[in-house]
Formats: sequence, structure tokens, C-alpha cells
Amino acid sequence: MSNKTFTMIKPDAFGKGHTGSILDLIVKAGFRIRAMKMTKLSTEKAGEFYAVHKQRPFYGELVEFMSSGPIVAAVLEKNNAVAEFRQLIGATDPAKADPGTIRKLFATSVGENSIHGSDSDENADIESKFFFSQLETY
Ligand code: RTP
Ligand code: MG
Repeated sequence: MSNKTFTMIKPDAFGKGHTGSILDLIVKAGFRIRAMKMTKLSTEKAGEFYAVHKQRPFYGELVEFMSSGPIVAAVLEKNNAVAEFRQLIGATDPAKADPGTIRKLFATSVGENSIHGSDSDENADIESKFFFSQLETY
């Protein structure tokens, strides 16, 4: 699934009303939306999604933040989707993100950084299946 990636608009960006603007940037950058839903993660589900970071010092904060409000999850398609999308969202720390990237435009801190993008084809597949059944993916 090298042409697909998975994203979430995180609770900070959703809560500030940036969802429409962010989706517009994603579509204008040439990504096609193959699945999308709005939902709110329980602490259990957020913990499961970020289980890879369980040993990191920021894990508790991350789980609390990601379950603090609604998110929009989506599967996106484009050639070289994982790398291209991480370029569009910018560095994890918005202070280090390039001008014009989604995190530079909307994020306020490394913790509350507005958007998620998968870091590999394998994780894109795992993360997409975490949120969407086959029936929910176009
Ligand atoms: P993401 O998975 O959300 O797309 O972000 P990423 O790959 O750029 O960064 P990653 O290392 O996977 O970290 C996942 C999320 O954990 C939060 N974080 N907080 N306080 C901290 O030092 C810290 N470091 C990471 C961020 O929300 C980051 O996006
Ligand atoms: Mg990551």
C-alpha cells in the first residue's frame, strides 16, 4: 500500500475549527480521500493506537491529549503518500516545521501538533485498519 497513508486531525486543531482548512490543504496538495470519519477516542483506544510510544516519557500526556476531544481520521492516496504527506505536515515540533506546512500553520507545541501522519507503509496499513473496515474504505 505504498500509495496510501493514514492521518488524524488531532483534538487541538479540531477544537479550534481548523478541520476544513486542513482538509483543503490536503486535497489541494493532491491527496485523494479514500476513507474519512469523525470520532472521539477513549483513553484505551488512544493508548492502543500509540502503544509503540508506551515507554516514552510523554506517553501519558499524549494519550490524555488524543482522547480529549473529537478527531477526524482519514485514509489518503497519492504516489509516495507516506513521505509526501509527512512533508506536507512538517516536523513533529511546529517550531522546527517548514513554512507552509500544516504544523507550522496550525500547531502550537510538540505535544499539541494538530495532525498525525503514518511513518511507514506498514504502519499506514495497520493504522488504517485500526479505524476503518473494508466496507468503510472506498
Ligand atoms: P505523529 O505520529 O503524531 O504523526 O507524530 P510524529 O511521527 O511526527 O512524532 P512521533 O515521534 O511519532 O510522536 C507521536 C506524537 O507524540 C507527541 N510527542 N510529544 N512532548 C514530547 O516531547 C513529544 N514528543 C512527541 C506528539 O503529539 C507526536 O506527534
Ligand atoms: Mg509518529
